[in-house]
Formats: sequence, C-alpha cells, structure tokens
Amino acid sequence: MSKNLVIAIDGPAGSGKSTIAKFLATKIGATYIDTGAMYRAITFKALSGGFIHDIHKIIEFSKSAKIKLTYENGRTRVFVDSEEVTDFIRSSEVNDNVSEVSRIPEVRAELVKIQQKMGQTETVVAEGRDTTTVVFPNADFKIYLVASIDVRAERRLAEYLENGVQISIEEVKENLAKRDKIDSGREVSPLKKADDAYQIDTSSLSINQELEIILDRINKIKISKQIK
Ligand code: DC
Repeated sequence: MSKNLVIAIDGPAGSGKSTIAKFLATKIGATYIDTGAMYRAITFKALSGGFIHDIHKIIEFSKSAKIKLTYENGRTRVFVDSEEVTDFIRSSEVNDNVSEVSRIPEVRAELVKIQQKMGQTETVVAEGRDTTTVVFPNADFKIYLVASIDVRAERRLAEYLENGVQISIEEVKENLAKRDKIDSGREVSPLKKADDAYQIDTSSLSINQELEIILDRINKIKISKQIK
C-alpha cells in the first residue's frame, strides 16, 4: 500500500492559499482541508447564538460541537452538528470576529485534533495558519505563501463582490492588516514560516505558474521518498 501524502500550506489572508490548495487537491486527487473554514464555523455559531463575547461558552461549544468538512466536486462544505453552515461563514461579520475566536487555545486544540485525524489516512492538502508548524509538522511538503498587501486586498475585494458584499478597498485593507497583526502576534500557534517551508510569492504568478512550481517539487519529493 502506498503512503498517503500530506501537503501543508500556510500564509496570511489573501495570499492565495485556498485557490492553489483547491487546484492542487483536484490535480493530485487529494482531500482539501480548509482549516480556516472550521474557525469560521465556530465563529458563525457564536455570533448567531449570541455568545461571541463569552469565551467560556465558545470553548464549551467547540468541545461539544461536531465540526465536519467535506470536499466534493471542488467544493468544501462545512457542517456543525449536521447543520450546514457553508453559506454563512464568509460574511464580513464572521471576518471581523474570526481572528479573536481562533486565538483561543482550547478551540485550537479541538480543531487541530480533527484536522490531524483527516491527515492520518488520506492524501491531503491542508491550508491555514499553523498547518506547517502545528497540525502537520512532519508534512511531506510545506509551502509558505506570501503576496503584497495590495494584491491580497484586490483578491479579497473580488471575493466579497462575488458574494454580493459591498465594501471599499480601504476597508478590506484595514481588515487584512488587523487580521495579519492578530494572526502573527498571538501567543498560541502564530502564523509564521516554518524553517523547512518552501516560500512562494504569488503577487505576480498565475495559478498555472504556481501549480507548475508546486507539482514539480511534489514529483521530486515523491521520487526521493519512493511514494507512488
Ligand atoms: O483562511 P481564512 O481567512 O478562512 O481563516 C480565517 C481565520 O481563521 C484567520 O483570521 C485566522 C484563523 N485561522 C487560524 O488561526 N488557523 C488556521 N489554521 C486557519 C485559520
């Protein structure tokens, strides 16, 4: 039996992680693990349940709730206790609160357990802020994506417009800068480049160029590790 391959991608918001992770997962037949979607799901439930400012309730909820991710036909779906929340986790309200929820160590511990379990048996492409450092420290291939703040803001703005959210580029930049600060500055599992991660600046790369660079590396790793 051939070993399952674990590919982990980290980087700041808007660096292009989810786009490349989806393409890559489809190309190599892997399961895509969108770890941010899990933090977003907890945040959405805390907002809709009215306990977003009650850290103890958020921890209790994250321990008892059953968070499930599925990835079929290029689409991630997110479920909390069998309720589908996919369409609600990308609102600006969730964006504004998710960094605060994701800095809670107990919440992280619960979600990391689920993510690690998925990577035990399946070939996965995981992306987030700590997938190369905490979730999969022994990943077969680690990627750290970066891009300029202007490019990242343009990408996020396009996403908002696609989802019918009216927002200015200045607001998007402000939100990105705020999240960068919280995600990189928090004590538990801060966003940082793992020493052995391969850094790619996606500012002026097309998806195909990026995919080509990554596939080339993966092929070399497969050969060196004798993975089929
Ligand atoms: O990738 P994203 O924008 O969907 O992530 C949403 C938030 O979740 C982000 O602000 C940081 C947090 N997050 C995290 O702390 N750890 C992860 N592995 C993934 C996301």
